[in-house]
Amino acid sequence: MEEIKNIIHSIKNPNSNETLSSEGRIKQLTYENDQLTLVYNRDGINPDQKRKIEDVIINELKNLVNENNIMVKTVSTNSSDVTTKKPETKKENANLKVGHGAPLPQKKRVSNVKKVIAVSSGKGGVGKSTVSTNLAYALKNQGKTVGLLDADIYGPSIPMLVGKRDAKPLSSDDKKILPIEADGIKFISFGLFISEQDPVIWRGPMLGGVLNQFLFDVDWGELDYLILDLPPGTGDVQLSMVQATDVDGIIGVSTPQDVALLDSRKGLKMFGQVNVPVLGIIENMSYFSPDDMPEKKYHIFGEGGAKKAAEELGVSFLGDIPMEIALRESCDNGKPYMNTLNYEGRPVWNAYTEIAKKVIDNTDEKKKGFFSKILG
Ligand SMILES: Nc1ncnc2c1ncn2[C@@H]1O[C@H](COP(=O)(O)OP(=O)(O)OP(=O)(O)O)[C@@H](O)[C@H]1O
Ligand SMILES: [Mg+2]
Repeated sequence: MEEIKNIIHSIKNPNSNETLSSEGRIKQLTYENDQLTLVYNRDGINPDQKRKIEDVIINELKNLVNENNIMVKTVSTNSSDVTTKKPETKKENANLKVGHGAPLPQKKRVSNVKKVIAVSSGKGGVGKSTVSTNLAYALKNQGKTVGLLDADIYGPSIPMLVGKRDAKPLSSDDKKILPIEADGIKFISFGLFISEQDPVIWRGPMLGGVLNQFLFDVDWGELDYLILDLPPGTGDVQLSMVQATDVDGIIGVSTPQDVALLDSRKGLKMFGQVNVPVLGIIENMSYFSPDDMPEKKYHIFGEGGAKKAAEELGVSFLGDIPMEIALRESCDNGKPYMNTLNYEGRPVWNAYTEIAKKVIDNTDEKKKGFFSKILG
């Protein structure tokens, strides 16, 4: 600890070139159970300088403390000074503390959010993001307050789907990340923090840190539902996210193909192992009906597979969503289908509405039984 202390006390404020310690900025410095916590006063230190300080800390301590066990927090005396009225200041852009997210010891609830629901799939491209987004709007259409968290760091797509690619999240006075609002739905996505050309070459532990911030450092306000659009598959990111967060239920998305179903079975079982209840399965791209022959159903990827899998697993079948050109176009144009009243009454609209009603019904605490299914 002595060595760690000395290093921390030698870290300089890039503004003044004096040590943080000599300026009396260090408010807390503890090292317990391999976890280093440093709280310092950042008055007058801009976000770039703050990043520099964090980089120096990680670099200097790299042989002594695991980077993931370093938690650096800042306080500012100005913001807690309630006696002097501050002039209205321009809000800063929110920053992500890459790599500083400490692992969470136990499942934590997202405050003020009634139900957290994760949308998952065993394989990619089956329509998770489309389902997450349109389910969010369908729940909103039922009068619910909804948030949408894009947990797909490698392929964030929610900003595009809701038509907010260029939005930049701001930081609140208490240093929380303010989510972006699209048609009354609050959302956050890694895509809002990087430019679309940037390669995403982040390591797993860093991803965990970012997702933790998306859950717990975003000012979600009061929500009935927070929908998590998980990355495809059943890797570490998905697992650690549901291990660290009190997720109320998983919705599995699958296409009718056998391969997709097999993958989704595996995925749902994984969530069972970490005690996350399965809310049900949605079959996406179930069939195609041409606009000029709406009574005709072409089962392009096979028929009824997801329903059968749901029966086998003993979980609910939440519904099937047909393929529709307008749905694909609405995604590409950033104008969510379930926010376009022109589509009301069409099969895709009705399917999402029914699914939203089932989700509401089945997350109702008074109606027992539904949430009890945990797949082992
Ligand atoms: N029911 C549908 N009808 C027509 N097109 C659809 C339907 N569902 C999804 N799509 C289209 O399929 C493509 C893949 O969907 P989406 O991006 O939602 O999948 P995903 O599972 O999130 O993919 P990834 O694994 O890459 O995150 C998109 O172009 C989307 O518009
Ligand atoms: Mg996606």
